[in-house]
Amino acid sequence: MQRLLAITLTSGLAASATAAALTPAAVAAPPDNFQANTAVGPGGSKYKDYPHFRVYNAQNDTVADNCVRPLEAAYQCFVVDLHWRSPGLSYNSESEAGPYYKLNIYRTDNLGANTAANTGLDTRAGLAFLNVGSPYMTDPGTVVHEFGHAMTYAAHWWIDQTRTGAWWETIANWVADTYLTDPVCESARKRTNVASGNTIFQPKKVIGDSYLPIVDGSRGTGNYYEAWPFFTFLVHNLDNYTGLGIDIFPNIWTKYKRNSDETPLHVLERLVAPSTRIQTVVGRYWARMAHVDLAHPKMQAAFQSQRRNINYANLDTLSGGNYRVKSARAPRYMGANIIPLKVTGSGAVIVTVKASSGFTATLAIKAANGQVRYIDLPKGAGGATIASGEETTLVVANTPDQLLLFDPFKLSAEATKGLDYQVQLTGVTPV
Ligand SMILES: *[C@@H]1O[C@H](CO)[C@@H](O)[C@H](O)[C@H]1NC(C)=O
Ligand SMILES: *[C@@H]1O[C@H](CO)[C@@H](O)[C@H](O)[C@H]1NC(C)=O
Repeated sequence: MQRLLAITLTSGLAASATAAALTPAAVAAPPDNFQANTAVGPGGSKYKDYPHFRVYNAQNDTVADNCVRPLEAAYQCFVVDLHWRSPGLSYNSESEAGPYYKLNIYRTDNLGANTAANTGLDTRAGLAFLNVGSPYMTDPGTVVHEFGHAMTYAAHWWIDQTRTGAWWETIANWVADTYLTDPVCESARKRTNVASGNTIFQPKKVIGDSYLPIVDGSRGTGNYYEAWPFFTFLVHNLDNYTGLGIDIFPNIWTKYKRNSDETPLHVLERLVAPSTRIQTVVGRYWARMAHVDLAHPKMQAAFQSQRRNINYANLDTLSGGNYRVKSARAPRYMGANIIPLKVTGSGAVIVTVKASSGFTATLAIKAANGQVRYIDLPKGAGGATIASGEETTLVVANTPDQLLLFDPFKLSAEATKGLDYQVQLTGVTPV
C-alpha cells in the first residue's frame, strides 16, 4: 500500500508581516509546558497531555506515549538544537514571545484508504495539527514526517507558494530521516532516550532515477518523497560552501522572497552568492551521490547493500570512445547522470563532455580507504590518474545558467527537457 503523507496547502492567507526583527535577547525563553488550544482541529474530551503535544483519542495511554516519544525527541532536535521556529507559535505573528500552544494530534480513521496521516491547518489561529491513522500512531517515520509539515507551516513563508508545494514532502521526509538516523539528531536522541531507526533513503530511486528534475512531483513516477538527500547534503555542507550548513533552516523560509512564488533553489542561490553558484552546489550534490559521500553512515550502508540493483545504463556507445546519453535518461532540470567507469589502461583518464546548454561535470574518485576526491571538469574537460583500488564515477548534471520558475507538480517543457550530451572517454569505459 502506498502510504500517502499528505499536506494541504490552503488559500487566501491574510496579512503579511510588518515585523521589526526581534533580537534574541528581547525574547523570554519558551515555557517548559505549552498551553492547550482546544480550538485547533476537531477537539474532543479524550486526550493526554505532554510538554509540547496533546494527543486526542489514542487507543490507550501506551499508544499516546509511544506516539509522542519520537515527537518530543524530534522537537528537541529541530526546535531546541537546530533553532527551527516552534510549531507552538502562530505563523500569523512574527513574534517569538508566544503564546506557545501544544501541537494537537488526532487519531482518526477518516483519512481514506491510502493515507497514513496528514497535517491540518487552522488558518485563523495560524497553527497546524496532525491527523494520524490508527495503525500509524506509533510509527515514528509517519508522525515525525507530519511534524516536519507542522514546522514548515510555523515557518510561514512557503505557505500558499505553489512552486514550493512538492518540496514540502521532500523537507518532511528529510525531517523524518534526520530524526531517525542522522548524526545531526544524535544528541537529541540520546537526551530523550530514543533509539535511532532505519534510513528511508531509496538508492535505486535517487541514483537510478537521478535524471529526473531535482524535485519532481509527478504522481507515481516523480521523486518528491525521495529527493531529500539534497537537504542532507546542504545541511552537512562537507564542501564548506558559505551560506550552507545547518543555517539553511530557517533561512530557506525566512529569506524566501515574500509572496514571489519563487522556488527553493532561488533562495539557495541567494544564500550561497556571491561566493558560489547554485549550479556548482547542485553539481557537487550529484557528484557526492556517486558514492553517497555525505557523512551519513546509514545512507552509506543502504547504498552498499543496494548498489548492485541500481540502474546505471545512461549511455549509448558510439565509435572511437564516444558515447551519447540515452534520450530517455538525459538529465532533466537540475538532475544528473551518475556513470561508474572502469579503468582500461594505466589509470590515466581523460574525459570530454559536450552539450549545448549549461551543465556541471565532475569525476568522483573513491579511494580504497573510503575517501572520495572530486575533480571538476571545467567546460566538461579534464582528467585524473586513477590508482589501483580506486573507483571512478563520472557525474554530469543539467545545471542551466538561469534558474527556472518551475512547479514540480506541473512540470513545464523546459523542466523536463533532457540535457543531450556526448562524452569522449580515454582510459576508461562505462562499467
Ligand atoms: C493499546 O492499544 C493498542 C492498539 O489498539 C493495543 O495493541 C494494545 O494492546 C493496547 N495496550 C493496552 C495496555 O491496552
Ligand atoms: C571543511 O572544513 C572542515 C573543518 O574546518 C575541514 O576539516 C574539511 O577538510 C573542509 N572540507 C573541505 C572540502 O574543504
